[in-house]
Amino acid sequence: MIKRESKHRILILGVSGFLGSAIYKELFPYFRTSGTYNTSNKTLEKNRQFFHYNYEEDDIYEILDIVKPTIIISALRGDFSKQVMLHRHLAEYLLLENTKLIFLSSANVFDAYSKYPSYEQDKTLSNSIYGHFKIKIENMLLRLPKEKVAIVRLPMVFGPHAPPRLTEILQLIDLNEPIEVFPNLVMNITSDNKLTQQIHYIINRNKSGVFHLGSNDLVHHDDFIKEIIETLHLEHKAKYKQVFTTNDERYLAVLPKFNKLPKHLQLVSQDILSELKK
Ligand SMILES: NC(=O)c1ccc[n+]([C@@H]2O[C@H](COP(=O)([O-])OP(=O)(O)OC[C@H]3O[C@@H](n4cnc5c(N)ncnc54)[C@H](OP(=O)(O)O)[C@@H]3O)[C@@H](O)[C@H]2O)c1
Repeated sequence: MIKRESKHRILILGVSGFLGSAIYKELFPYFRTSGTYNTSNKTLEKNRQFFHYNYEEDDIYEILDIVKPTIIISALRGDFSKQVMLHRHLAEYLLLENTKLIFLSSANVFDAYSKYPSYEQDKTLSNSIYGHFKIKIENMLLRLPKEKVAIVRLPMVFGPHAPPRLTEILQLIDLNEPIEVFPNLVMNITSDNKLTQQIHYIINRNKSGVFHLGSNDLVHHDDFIKEIIETLHLEHKAKYKQVFTTNDERYLAVLPKFNKLPKHLQLVSQDILSELKK
């Protein structure tokens, strides 16, 4: 039997997703960890730690009452206004209970700034519906007592565990279809492996505030995608379609400056390529 720390009860909203399931794998050996899924799934249905939950229809309070989480991790996608409503309910719950929320946000909260990378304390500004929605939830959470919330802003997540982005690239190569690359896009990136370790650290050290969990270096989107394909030895099969959304270079990068994690939890883009080689 695995002996888990009793310190925390963790509830992952979206445990069936790419990042939710990666975070679950990292945390469940150490903490009492449960989670929600929406699409019916035989394996998850059999496990009493997993709850069927659709935020478009169901009330979250029932699950909160059963789990009594000390940490909630929000790793959901889908309807924006319904997600805002859910997070409003979560914010009310956080105020009443001894619970903290870790919210997976995105570099898109800065997508209106194209000329610079962004740091934790920069003012958020977005041109996209997705970015606007993340900002709305962030602002709601930032009004809560600081120790109640960790907002983790993520750039594109790559990694060895068949993340959606990699699967899509492999499928396009298989179908002999071109892979879209954005030569003007300068970004940072992260991996599911590193992200889950960083979240584990934030929980263990009881950290809160805003975190920028991207690589310390910046890459051009097209160069990085080509490097991934070379790392997988598929360069002779790949075709590319260059997409120019702007005339100038455009930054979409969340760099850490004020809320840095220890060295072993930081990463550079090369680390992701090395992970893919393993
Ligand atoms: N992946 C990235 O590169 C990246 C980058 C920046 C930020 N993020 C953020 O990280 C979070 C997780 O992303 P991901 O890539 O892991 O997403 P994902 O693989 O698409 O997972 C989304 C999760 O949301 C659940 N969900 C969808 N609709 C739902 C509904 N109506 N009710 C309840 N649950 C619902 C899904 O459940 P079912 O699968 O069971 O339907 C799944 O568990 C998101 O908030 C995203 O904005 C991701």
